[in-house]
Amino acid sequence: MLLFNNISIPLRTPLILKTSQRRNGVVLAQQTNVPTTFTNFTISDKALISRGFNLHRTIDNLNLDHLNSVFVAVGFPRRDTDKIRVALENTDALLWIEHEKTKRPVAFARATGDGVFNAIIWDVVVDPSFQGIGLGKAVMERLVTVLLEKGITNIALYSEPRVLGFYRPLGFVADPDGIRGMVYSRKQKKQR
Ligand SMILES: CC(C)(COP(=O)(O)OP(=O)(O)OC[C@H]1O[C@@H](n2cnc3c(N)ncnc32)[C@H](O)[C@@H]1OP(=O)(O)O)[C@@H](O)C(=O)NCCC(=O)NCCS
Repeated sequence: MLLFNNISIPLRTPLILKTSQRRNGVVLAQQTNVPTTFTNFTISDKALISRGFNLHRTIDNLNLDHLNSVFVAVGFPRRDTDKIRVALENTDALLWIEHEKTKRPVAFARATGDGVFNAIIWDVVVDPSFQGIGLGKAVMERLVTVLLEKGITNIALYSEPRVLGFYRPLGFVADPDGIRGMVYSRKQKKQR
C-alpha cells in the first residue's frame, strides 16, 4: 500500500507492508509529502479534448462491459459487471477518460473512503493501446486533487511492484515512518 500524506500519528487505517514484502505480487505502500493539490495538471482538460479525449467524473455514459474489458486487457481478473456497478455506486470519487472517436473508456481510476479523513484508490487502469501518453497521470492527478479538495489527506493505494515508479512522482511513498500495511489473508489464517 502506498500513501499520499504527511503522517504524524499512527494510522488506524489499512496498514503497510514493507516495499520488499510482497503478497500476491502486490506491494503495499502509502502516500506522503503531498502537494496540497495539483494546481497545474500535466495535461490540461483542454489539451485532453484537443487530443480526442473526454474527461468524465460520473458513471453516466460509462459502458461497464467496455470498462471491464480494459480491466481484463491490463491483466485484472474479469469481474461481474453488475458487481462493478455496485462498487462504482459506492465509490466516492472516480474519473474516466473516453476516447472521443470510439466512445470507449480508455483510462479509469476511483477512490473509496469515509469522505472526511481517509481514501483508498482502486482500479487505476489505462487501455494498453493508450498507455504511455499521459492518461494514467491525468486521471491520478485529478483524482488526488478531488480528494485533497475535500480535505482528505490520508490517501492510500495498493501498488504492484512494477508500477511503484508510476506512483512515486505523484507523491506516493511506501512505509512512511515505518508504517506497514496488512491485508486479510484467508490462506494464512488456514495455516495457523
Ligand atoms: C500504470 C498505468 C496506469 C500507467 O498509465 P499510463 O497512462 O501508461 O502512464 P502515463 O503515460 O500517464 O505515465 C506517467 C509517467 O509515469 C511513468 N510510468 C508509467 N508507467 C510506469 C511504470 N510502470 N513504472 C515507472 N514509471 C511509469 C511514465 O514514464 C511517465 O513519466 P513522465 O511523467 O516522467 O513522462 C498503466 O500502465 C496501466 O494501466 N497499467 C496496467 C494496470 C496497472 O498496473 N495498474 C496499476 C495497478 S497497481
